[in-house]
Amino acid sequence: MSTENKKEIVLSGIRSTGNLHLGNYYGALSKFVKMQDDYDCLFFIADLHALTTNPDPEALHANVKSILAEYLAAGLDPDKATIFVQSDIPEISEMYLLLNMHVGIGELMRTASFKDKARKALGLSGSTDDNDAAFEHQIIGAETNKRVNAGLLTYPTLMAVDILIQKANKVPVGKDQLQHLELTRRFARRFNSFYGVDLFPEPESFDFGGKPVKVPGLDGSGKMGKSEGNCIYLIDDEKVLRKKVMRAVTDQGPTEPNSPVSEPIANLFALLELTSTPEVVQQFRDAYADCSIRYGDLKKQLAEDILKVTTPIRERVNDILADDEYLRKVLASGAEKARERAAKTLAEVRQIMGIRKF
Ligand code: TYM
Repeated sequence: MSTENKKEIVLSGIRSTGNLHLGNYYGALSKFVKMQDDYDCLFFIADLHALTTNPDPEALHANVKSILAEYLAAGLDPDKATIFVQSDIPEISEMYLLLNMHVGIGELMRTASFKDKARKALGLSGSTDDNDAAFEHQIIGAETNKRVNAGLLTYPTLMAVDILIQKANKVPVGKDQLQHLELTRRFARRFNSFYGVDLFPEPESFDFGGKPVKVPGLDGSGKMGKSEGNCIYLIDDEKVLRKKVMRAVTDQGPTEPNSPVSEPIANLFALLELTSTPEVVQQFRDAYADCSIRYGDLKKQLAEDILKVTTPIRERVNDILADDEYLRKVLASGAEKARERAAKTLAEVRQIMGIRKF
């Protein structure tokens, strides 16, 4: 084996469901860019995962292109990292079928993201727990003609395959993906031990020594997400971005020194911590503590600091989008590299599972 391939393998992806927002950026893309110099990196566009929420075919297609352009505009370099589209690697689909034979329906049904999305698909509100028989009844479809597609259930299998087929060691993702990563490790261990092999490493999440982040939304609660409608997009122009930030939910303001911080304000501080300098953050924390804070000032500062991050990306993206030939070249070369490695792993998996030639 050659020694140049000894760098740890990093893999991660983002679904092609729309433009990238600050959650995608701080949870994933900014880390991709930082990691590409030091690791053997593969970054992809998860169009098969995007299919689980049944996007319009034209939108799916357009979103693959826009995410690719945003990857490149944010600084991903195809000379350093392998950049590809998930569906360009048919080996992933085959291994997804094979790995599903070792995955339990129950463990998939207990996944938080499945329960969330299934509830949305069924038009249910409120929360459920693992033993909610009524929820399971609904999923089986006994009382409704609404459908929870099987792709949504097996989403974690497909994600595990993305990672395992490249034998990745490190997976830079946001906090919401940790449960999927835990399942990936479990599936890797299970496969290795069932067949008595040492094929798959157990991948770990990666955040430069810190904990994976959860970027909050501007609506006072929860995380920033496309389906939550509370996003700041990397390509938002200055006016739109400032308006969104200035409209962020706040509270009445502290009336006593050192008051506890409410969720909407904690969220603004969390965003400030991601985008501003420690000095600026401390200045506003002190102002909160002595009740002199003016939320309008905090928001103005936040908008300025977010714009420092997003403006260079926004300014590059249109030129990249216009260069179809370049985009095709990037993806063709990425697919070739990713496929070669995936094909090797798939051949090993087939052999191990007993799918062999006579
Ligand atoms: P997706 O498209 O939902 O999210 C892509 C990445 O963005 C991160 N993210 C956030 N991080 C912090 N705060 C937020 N508010 C926020 N919103 C999104 C997600 O954690 C993720 O890192 N299932 C994956 C796609 C995928 C994948 C993989 C990732 C498919 N196969 C293999 C890694 C390895 C997903 O969440 O996509």
